[in-house]
Amino acid sequence: MRASITLLSTLFLTLTFTGPALAGGHPAERTNSSDTTPPQPCTPQTVSPFRQEEIFYTLVDTLYVARTVSEAYTHFVEDFINHNPATVDGIASSFALVEPLFTNSNTAVKVQILHQAFVAPYGWVHYRIDGFNPEPTAVVDVFRFDGSCVVEHWDIIQERPVNSTSSHPLF
Ligand SMILES: *[C@@H]1O[C@H](CO)[C@@H](O)[C@H](O)[C@H]1NC(C)=O
Ligand SMILES: *[C@@H]1O[C@H](CO)[C@@H](O)[C@H](O)[C@H]1NC(C)=O
Repeated sequence: MRASITLLSTLFLTLTFTGPALAGGHPAERTNSSDTTPPQPCTPQTVSPFRQEEIFYTLVDTLYVARTVSEAYTHFVEDFINHNPATVDGIASSFALVEPLFTNSNTAVKVQILHQAFVAPYGWVHYRIDGFNPEPTAVVDVFRFDGSCVVEHWDIIQERPVNSTSSHPLF
């Protein structure tokens, strides 16, 4: 796998959000902080499915829209299971790769959320990222919650081919 793709996928991408409003989302403050503060990990608390869904959409808004990466990682347990092959489990490894790429000060990268849903305890986000691979790239991040915290992550990544067989656009 190309290094650029694996790096990109290490968690999620954030950027200028130009799509429709997030269903159930809660707009976060837009700041340009360098955001390199090591994240404070999440300690799972028992919460209702409704509250779990609220936390998921807060995570989505923080990570993909506001791009305040340290804040986003406060929703992960310290040793969360990460199936992305470019990193090891836990916040430290993932954050070191993701923060420089996803921080809102990296204006070379753009992210547009396309679809998202939450069915407890799983939430997923399908989005487009420009400015990382040569061609625009589609990513799906899947998160599993335990109570109030994310405990596991998977991702799937597809760069748009220069010449598609399909007549449909990738996005
Ligand atoms: C964020 O960065 C943009 C572009 O560099 C700048 O115009 C804006 O004033 C900055 N906002 C804050 C809150 O620093
Ligand atoms: C895409 O298609 C064009 C036109 O057939 C061709 O010239 C070009 O080499 C193709 N590019 C790739 C990467 O396949």
